[in-house]
Amino acid sequence: MTDRLTDIKQAANLLKTKEVIAFPTETVYGLGADATSDEAVGKIFSAKGRPSDNPLIVHIGKIEQLEQVVSQVSEVAKVLIAEFWPGPLTLILPKKEGLSKLVTAGLETVGVRMPNHLVALNLLREVQLPIAAPSANASGRPSPTTAKHVLDDLDGKIAGIIDGGATGVGVESTVLDCTTDIPIILRPGGVTKEQLESVIGLVHMDASLENTKLAPKSPGMKYTHYAPDAPLTIIKGSQVFIQKMVNEARNSGKKVGILTTEESKSLYEADVVLACGNKTQLSSVAQNLYEVLRGFNDYNLDLIYSEYFADSGLGEAIMNRLVKASGHRLIEEK
Ligand code: TXA
Ligand code: MG
Repeated sequence: MTDRLTDIKQAANLLKTKEVIAFPTETVYGLGADATSDEAVGKIFSAKGRPSDNPLIVHIGKIEQLEQVVSQVSEVAKVLIAEFWPGPLTLILPKKEGLSKLVTAGLETVGVRMPNHLVALNLLREVQLPIAAPSANASGRPSPTTAKHVLDDLDGKIAGIIDGGATGVGVESTVLDCTTDIPIILRPGGVTKEQLESVIGLVHMDASLENTKLAPKSPGMKYTHYAPDAPLTIIKGSQVFIQKMVNEARNSGKKVGILTTEESKSLYEADVVLACGNKTQLSSVAQNLYEVLRGFNDYNLDLIYSEYFADSGLGEAIMNRLVKASGHRLIEEK
């Protein structure tokens, strides 16, 4: 059974004895283990069913702990740390010896961040070890933004969980490669490209992220991270066009869900219409995205159509996750 932990000392002791526990961060719940121990980190991979070639982010509670994790901190990284930590920004830097090889999946670099959540910080400061923590979902499922999501996926497979209520940001941290002259965003997330550029100047987007957008109807069905049970298709078009697609599917006997925002919810007719925040406030969309993606699984749907959200700011992270959830199925109104 998975213990519901209310005592930070008890939680820290579980980590010290190489157990894995879930805890809230400001982005999503993390599944933590001692980053210096193969035994502990191995338990993360088996609980999640995560492929071993996907490296983990290491979490620290104090800046001084950085030297336990990385061998070098560039000037740009120092500026970013001063500006954005604690916060949803993961920096890729040259790794320090001493971490479990499983954490870095054999790479010479490591991802590190200091989360901006009191429970996470208290835990990290109590345990005083660098803690490897991927999102606490079963591999392939949407990341967990509540303790219930974690337990739905991992109950019985992990030693404990600290319930800190719903997380704030709702999408994961931005992963920024700081080993190149111009830093590269490998995963858009809670800190936007615009925010980074306002502090350090030019930042690149990893080419594969850009390509996804350029290839709107890629049949790359294999990659369906974050996917709900029913196939999801993103529709870039008017409400009238989306409703027409829904009607066609329903007329052929399909049970159809729509993913939209509060502004448009009442304008659609479908079997299920779920709203994910307000389009005018993208932070609310990010906050509710995974809850809504998981929520569709309660309705036994045949297919889901999602509206297209914004591209810039937090829209980058939101669309990145939606595109993955859809397995790159995107239809554009001509
Ligand atoms: O917000 C977050 O970042 C959450 C919370 C729990 O902190 N964690 C999280 O971890 O999202 P995870 O494991 O689900 O995602 C880590 C991402 C993966 O895309 C992984 O490939 C990338 O970071 N990553 C980790 N280390 C890396 C490295 N050395 N080089 C390149 N990518 C790396
Ligand atoms: Mg994840």
